[in-house]
Amino acid sequence: MSLGIPQTVAIIMDGNGRWAKAKGLPRTAGHKQGANNVRDIALACNELGIKKLILYAFSTENWKRPEDEVGFLCKLPGIFFNMFIKELMEKNIRVTFAGELNRFPQDTQDVINKAVGMTEKNTGLELCLAINYGSRRELLLGIQKYADQVAKGERTNDITEEEVANYLMVPEDIDLMIRTSGEQRISNYLLWQIAYAELIFTPVAWPDFDQKELNRCIQEYQNRDRRFGGLTS
Ligand code: IPE
Ligand code: IPE
Ligand code: MG
Repeated sequence: MSLGIPQTVAIIMDGNGRWAKAKGLPRTAGHKQGANNVRDIALACNELGIKKLILYAFSTENWKRPEDEVGFLCKLPGIFFNMFIKELMEKNIRVTFAGELNRFPQDTQDVINKAVGMTEKNTGLELCLAINYGSRRELLLGIQKYADQVAKGERTNDITEEEVANYLMVPEDIDLMIRTSGEQRISNYLLWQIAYAELIFTPVAWPDFDQKELNRCIQEYQNRDRRFGGLTS
């Protein structure tokens, strides 16, 4: 029996730079094209009835890149939401984010917070952008918060696996994790949440990852046998 549509999908949107280089364009052109593709894939996921799409847009390690590229990437979410917020509203898509926004320029933070506020009551797809996100940082902040609460006597030291989610930026388990552009690694993304995710690595670069390739990945997911440590019935 094949699986239904995955409820939570996480994508590592990789390969923008190589896509641009192959076309003789600057890396930033790849990021721009990649941002346009976020719109297309979010709309497609909304149509498919996926509940939450989490897109890795900027990692805590991406600050290591040259200053001009980092500067461009920091402005991109702001540009994206200014361009597409109206359409996201029309399609009933809710915007959220994971990561520490405070390192981004104030105007970018303002646009993101505005998008989150405006779409708060929408009931379609939850489009979550992981920006300045790193899973180890997420876990560290959660551990610190928990330790603080225990130290202050606000709770006892008896946390369960289910409760760990309350201390994370992304509380859901991931059903399907896709990484584009051929790299086969996780790069500090959702380490707790992908415990039993199905992983798909596609050679297609993110700017070329279209609805057809998304559908192919979903089909591949649906043909997987998710056993969660048990046996197939
Ligand atoms: C993904 O594309 C976008 C970010 C990491 C911000 P890359 O910029 O990593 O592109 P490649 O991997 O160098 O081709
Ligand atoms: C992962 O891609 C981060 C994002 C897609 C935002 P990277 O290109 O930064 O990852 P590595 O360096 O190849 O592992
Ligand atoms: Mg990369």
